[in-house]
Amino acid sequence: MLIKAVRIENAETLQDILIEDGRIKQIAPDIQPSDNDTVIEGNGALVIPPFVDPHVHLDSTMTAGDPEWNESGTLFDGIRIWSERKQKLSYDDVYQRATEALKLQASHGLQFVRSHVDVTDPDLVALRALLDVRKDVAPWMTLQLVAFPQEGILSFPNGKALMENAAKLGVDALGAIPHYEFTQAYGAESIRFVGDLAQKYGLMIDAHCDEIDDPASRGLETLATVAYETGLKEKVTASHTTAMGSYNDAYVYKLMRLLQMADLNFVSNPLINMYLGGRFDTYPKRRGLTRVKELDAAGLNVAFGEDDIKDPWYPMGNGNMLDVLHLGLHATQMMGYTEILNSYRFITHNGARVMQVEDEYGIAEGKPANLLMFDADNWYDALNERANMRYSIRNGEILVEQKPAPRTTNFDQFV
Ligand code: FE2
Repeated sequence: MLIKAVRIENAETLQDILIEDGRIKQIAPDIQPSDNDTVIEGNGALVIPPFVDPHVHLDSTMTAGDPEWNESGTLFDGIRIWSERKQKLSYDDVYQRATEALKLQASHGLQFVRSHVDVTDPDLVALRALLDVRKDVAPWMTLQLVAFPQEGILSFPNGKALMENAAKLGVDALGAIPHYEFTQAYGAESIRFVGDLAQKYGLMIDAHCDEIDDPASRGLETLATVAYETGLKEKVTASHTTAMGSYNDAYVYKLMRLLQMADLNFVSNPLINMYLGGRFDTYPKRRGLTRVKELDAAGLNVAFGEDDIKDPWYPMGNGNMLDVLHLGLHATQMMGYTEILNSYRFITHNGARVMQVEDEYGIAEGKPANLLMFDADNWYDALNERANMRYSIRNGEILVEQKPAPRTTNFDQFV
């Protein structure tokens, strides 16, 4: 396959991309096709690497309203409703809903997804289904699974054993939920437990950490300490960290040094954090997001995730990372022109670093031919105009092809 005349990641000059055996063989201007090359005319289109969602919950997806809608919109009502819905989980139920959500995501250009899976279930039903989903979708989606203790590790019966069982079954990463544990001490202990388990089984860590508007919620400092002291560092991700939006600046100043030493990743989930956050405030009402702009400026890796697609924690969601990014840039006030122009990294490269797949990710010679092509000159236009995604290509094969929907306008007749 030969892709002609595209702008790679906002570059001004046009390049051709030659693909052979599923990998990018050459990037250069004016490459001549050989006889059997399929030629795609880019005509100046934008090419970027595929979208990454490093944080979603595929076990609960597509369950919104069952058994009831989360009318209060709080995290804790979400956990209560999910606890009821969980009683009727079956392998087929999870397999079918998760696959449906992944297809939706793939249709919007996603090729890398990390899903948390609730393991506070003695039978680990959802995990068993998702392990099979991970295998079955592999040709078109790289899926990672995180053992997520939704109802706690120390605060749930046999929580530690369930985490270890999940590790043995083959998850990619271990989660935690320190802000939900009965006590701060349990929260800190749960993180250290996960650190030990991750080392024992050679796994990454991705903790739901301080997802609460409580400035006293300080699981992050323990998570960062574990990341630093174990040397796991970039294999560790702090998801949400919304309490950081409520910390005082003096504490954040001190914390930032540790975060930089630990070099761990952050995932912010703007849709869900804005929806669930600030629910106990009157006014001023907090945004509920972590300090994305400041973490990014400090050189820490921050990615955006979608978190929930139609489940007890979020009534909407369509698997489109453009919605996530659009709201994220507004909520974090990262809307300088250059910030918008480069903002695709929050849903591409930065997510790839969270998932630790960077070696096989990006538009470069020798890498797998995974890319998206948009009918736009640059990312600013692609995002602002919701430009048509003409192709999603994976290992040199077209996964998604899309033409702009035709639209007829009759304005001129009124002049
Ligand atoms: Fe989450």
